[in-house]
Amino acid sequence: MELSDAILARRTIKDFRPDPVPTDVLDRALTAGLWAQNHKLTEPWRFTILGPEAHRRLAAAFADSQGPEARAEAEKKITGKPLVVAVSQRLAADENTRREDYAAIACALQNIQLAAWAEGLGMQWSSGKVIRLESIYRLLGIDRQGEEIVGLLFFGYPARVPAAPRRKGLDEVTRRLS
Ligand SMILES: Cc1cc2nc3c(=O)[nH]c(=O)nc-3n(C[C@H](O)[C@H](O)[C@H](O)COP(=O)(O)O)c2cc1C
Repeated sequence: MELSDAILARRTIKDFRPDPVPTDVLDRALTAGLWAQNHKLTEPWRFTILGPEAHRRLAAAFADSQGPEARAEAEKKITGKPLVVAVSQRLAADENTRREDYAAIACALQNIQLAAWAEGLGMQWSSGKVIRLESIYRLLGIDRQGEEIVGLLFFGYPARVPAAPRRKGLDEVTRRLS
């Protein structure tokens, strides 16, 4: 796949077929992330790949955090994803490095999503309130003093690729100075 085609056609995927994600395909996508641009090569990203038991516990913990009427829907939201990977950021001591590290992780996640896409695999970066729950830190074994969860990545083969949301044109977001 041409890089420009992948960049334009890549979509956030939320509806997945139930097919499992092969380990080698996932590993290739995550490895693409390791080659992202990263000021001072801090390599701040950490990946936690959930197996079936951890996946079930994540769904239950998320469901527990909801009111009783939203519980079943919340659980299904997580169990309906073929594969979950948590992405966390090793927290640098100073604010500027933290900011740059978050940017580097965003670059890594773009690489990952594009590399997955080139192999037919879809992904959603989820930054909803689930990533801030104490129970999620506990079950993932992440110490929030030193590491912050920045997203759950949901991977799977797309059941549906949504239409591209409209983007502003270049001229709408660009100032050209003489
Ligand atoms: C930092 C970040 C956080 C995101 N969090 C969510 C999220 O919590 N839920 C969601 O549905 N999409 C999330 N997304 C994906 C965006 O909603 C998506 O990129 C946007 O709708 C444009 O669609 P596209 O990726 O198909 O071009 C996130 C994207 C970024 C960069």
